Amino acid sequence: MQVFWKTILIVCLVGVSIQFIQPERSNPPVNPSQTIHAVQHLDPSVSATLARSCNDCHSNLTVWPWYSRIAPVSWLVVSDVRKGRADLNFSEWGAYPADKQKRMLAEICKQVSEKEMPESTYIWMHPEAKLSDADIHSICTWTQSLNPLPQQSAAQE
Ligand code: HEC
Repeated sequence: MQVFWKTILIVCLVGVSIQFIQPERSNPPVNPSQTIHAVQHLDPSVSATLARSCNDCHSNLTVWPWYSRIAPVSWLVVSDVRKGRADLNFSEWGAYPADKQKRMLAEICKQVSEKEMPESTYIWMHPEAKLSDADIHSICTWTQSLNPLPQQSAAQE
């Protein structure tokens, strides 16, 4: 029994101590002239879908959820946002060279068509982020209208 209580105590101490290791949850400033809205034609409905399902990890407008304050979940969330922004940041789209923009447009359609994005763990916590077939279709129609390169969803349909 004593071992039991010691174990509980240690688990609690560890649980509390790791709360002191908090990576920064920052939202870098947004330059309005560099956002995807500023430099690319974007239908309001597609824009709303991207905002609803992608912005938390692919823009500087992240809404940090309450659980992003609790270690060790916070470490995972911060790392996801960091990686997501590094790959694709709608707030810094204007700074991408034209060929990267084109590649990204194709990649966006591919990722949503394959249901790789938004990440499934994110959808558990944000059910409203789940994309319908109609949402996916609108996203791909939009990316194809800007970038006529062959794209995944066209190949699949
Ligand atoms: C919970 C965070 C999260 C959400 C929400 C999310 N992504 Fe991602 N996304 C990531 C991460 C992390 C990566 C990097 C993948 C990796 O390193 O494995 C990524 C990678 C990508 C890539 C690949 C970029 C490349 O370099 O090839 C695309 C495209 C993408 N996401 C599009 C989207 C779109 C479109 C949405 C919304 C429909 C979305 N993502 C929603 C986290 C997210």
